[in-house]
Amino acid sequence: MIETRSLSQVFGVGEHAHQVLTDINLFVERASITAIVGPSGAGKSTLARCMNLLQQPTSGEVLLDGVVASGLSDRATATQRRAIGTIFQGSSLLRRRTALQNVMLPMQMAGVPTSVQRERAAALLDRVHLTARANAYPAQLSGGQQQRVGIARALALEPSILLADEATTGLDPNTRSSILDLLRELRAEMGLTIVMITHEMDVVREIADHVVMMSQGQIIERGGTGDLLLDPDSSLGRELFVPRQVGTRAGIPSYTVRYASSSVPTDWMARLGEHTGKAVSFQGASVEEVDGRTAGYVVIGIDLGLESLRAVLDPMGLRAEPRAPHDGAADDDGSAA
Ligand SMILES: Nc1ncnc2c1ncn2[C@@H]1O[C@H](COP(=O)(O)OP(=O)(O)O)[C@@H](O)[C@H]1O
Ligand SMILES: [Mg+2]
Repeated sequence: MIETRSLSQVFGVGEHAHQVLTDINLFVERASITAIVGPSGAGKSTLARCMNLLQQPTSGEVLLDGVVASGLSDRATATQRRAIGTIFQGSSLLRRRTALQNVMLPMQMAGVPTSVQRERAAALLDRVHLTARANAYPAQLSGGQQQRVGIARALALEPSILLADEATTGLDPNTRSSILDLLRELRAEMGLTIVMITHEMDVVREIADHVVMMSQGQIIERGGTGDLLLDPDSSLGRELFVPRQVGTRAGIPSYTVRYASSSVPTDWMARLGEHTGKAVSFQGASVEEVDGRTAGYVVIGIDLGLESLRAVLDPMGLRAEPRAPHDGAADDDGSAA
């Protein structure tokens, strides 16, 4: 379990002071997976460096299992830091060391006996399915394999918390999914608490129990992933589900219809047509089961105003929003679900 209380970080002094984090209060339960999202420059990596005790916050504190771990002496900090393994974008392995030697490194630094180092590093490489590549150098490994070595190295000192800062950024979708599967398995096996910093909403949907949205150094929204997806008023929930539009008809308004309840009648589109006497065109959808509930969007075209549409859909547990002209298909980059 890792927690931050009123964490703030200011860089520079006087007129050059730049407040990068403001009053960050986070509580990440044991064996949960929390994603921290937000635009570039929001302060995510700074928060990560405070959480893994590489950096002292200007004020506030970091707690590990309920005990204050920030603001301690260098020596005590070094000991506390062992509780947190970190993985980064591009894994940051040492190029002149083999996979096995990279995994041994944190143990060497911590003075673990050499025989234990080898044994544990080999077991960890086995756990991330890389036994066959133990003696390969990073340049001989694929991006996904390098990140697996990075994970093995992060686990070398048997931490209870794994902090990932953009660890899947730059990986292709299949490799990313296999890394996320591995993290989920490790959580289940070891009770690992995982903090995933990412700007990829796919990652959040695939793996996170909780999401925290940061902007300009502050937490602006947070919640359970499933709850946010079902909350029609949540902007984070909307971002998590990007609908893909497959076709529009000129002059007919398009609407995004969100499932705001788990008891939406399956024939709601037919009912909408019957109630209004209007043709309903199906233009796209992104609907998933999250926590056993249906969540997502359907994009429809119907020659009807928003108020009249809502009068029919609201009672069925559906929430309609008009679609902006550039939503979805127009700037389709293939990243939409
Ligand atoms: N050591 C530092 N000194 C001064 N400014 C910094 C330092 N580290 C980060 N910043 C600034 O803090 C802001 C947040 O950066 P960062 O935490 O890297 O954001 P993110 O990871 O969300 O992109 C940026 O404006 C960045 O320039
Ligand atoms: Mg960053």
